[in-house]
Amino acid sequence: MMPSTRAPGRRSNRKSNRGVLSRCRICGCQTLEKFLSLGPSPLANNFLTAEQLRRPEPYFPLDVCFCTTCWLVQLADVVPPEAMFTEYLYLTGASQPMRLHFAGLAADLVERFSPPRGGLIVDIGSNDGTFLEQAQAHGLRGLGVEPAANVGAVAQGRGVETFTAFFNMEVAERIVREKGPARAVVATNVFAHVHDLDGFTAAVVRLLAEDGVFVIEVPYVVDMLDRLEFDTIYHEHLSYFGVRPLSLLFERFGLQVTHVSRLKVHGGSIRVYAQRPRAPAPSRAVSELVAKETAQGFGTLDTYERFAQRVKALRDELVGLLRQLKAQGARIVGYGAPAKGNTLLNFCKIGTEILDYVIDTTPFKHGRYTPGVHLPVLPETRFQADRPDYALLLAWNYAEEILKKEGVYRAQGGKFIMPIPHPAVI
Ligand code: TYD
Repeated sequence: MMPSTRAPGRRSNRKSNRGVLSRCRICGCQTLEKFLSLGPSPLANNFLTAEQLRRPEPYFPLDVCFCTTCWLVQLADVVPPEAMFTEYLYLTGASQPMRLHFAGLAADLVERFSPPRGGLIVDIGSNDGTFLEQAQAHGLRGLGVEPAANVGAVAQGRGVETFTAFFNMEVAERIVREKGPARAVVATNVFAHVHDLDGFTAAVVRLLAEDGVFVIEVPYVVDMLDRLEFDTIYHEHLSYFGVRPLSLLFERFGLQVTHVSRLKVHGGSIRVYAQRPRAPAPSRAVSELVAKETAQGFGTLDTYERFAQRVKALRDELVGLLRQLKAQGARIVGYGAPAKGNTLLNFCKIGTEILDYVIDTTPFKHGRYTPGVHLPVLPETRFQADRPDYALLLAWNYAEEILKKEGVYRAQGGKFIMPIPHPAVI
């Protein structure tokens, strides 16, 4: 798909040359129903340098569909992955809660599957090596596959061997040849990024040892709808999974979902374990979640259309609140510069007339500007020095940690604004 572009400071009305999916990426049926449009939008992790601000910025449609056959929620428009993942500004280890989360995943793998010391664990989309560093601490042999050389270099610096590549059959075969089959293949927050789910899953099956386990973590569509987390929709996330469509996909490749657990991360995710069928029978959690998805209407278009209505109402409410505070003379900044924040800011059209800047802990993002609305990204120290009246909590998934961390700011009268599920001042 070709992007449309927007010249700095000017709206472009050029139509993009859209490469729109007509078939579901899991079941292949022509039963996709569009229920929400958030675009055109810039790429959510495309933080711009001052120099890039002067050039036209790529915009892509951001339309969300539901497949009435297999129930997969998905984007119709596919941005070429090279445009998003070759240089990546997101660092897993920049968020303390994620470091703890991945220590937990490593411990969970060891406890459930007792891989032998030196057993190969392949992490696809290994980012800065945060998870594999933990796996290696348990005596396992880690190998990362990461397309972004800049974050892969951070992992290498930590002693985590990393191949710079998009994972596919060729990479799987190279790993089997050079390192042997994997006891576990892990893909956290990467499966939703994959357009060719068939090709990816086939390559995982090639890489897995006979008794190996494939572990994925993906944001859970049920949590996204329940908590109105529409901002987790951006071009990198091509699919929004429930257990049912995932099970259907894996079955086609001879894998069975043997366990699912719900996680708090990223606003609510699922950790899904898939193994060859001679593994122990699936746990009750699997059938229970599928039954819950069915009972709660996740198989009917109506549910998604109602979500779209609620998203629009939320936008109006949030913008109304911010404008009212601004009219009273308040100074407001954005707290965190997550990708999801850029969906929210662009969809709600919240720019420099409302927020002075955003702050973030990721060094790569400092000195850059948020895509689309072009807010400067500054280090946390600026927030502490400035003490603005309000901080719009764009990184709402870390609300608990951030509210605790900013106790002094709050004690001195500073207020946070939670954007979802209902705008609230705290
Ligand atoms: P995250 O929600 O993990 O991901 P995504 O980009 O997929 O939406 O990103 C959180 C961002 O918030 C990340 O850039 C780091 C930043 N952050 C802070 O600035 N301060 C904090 O205290 C925490 C926990 C995160």
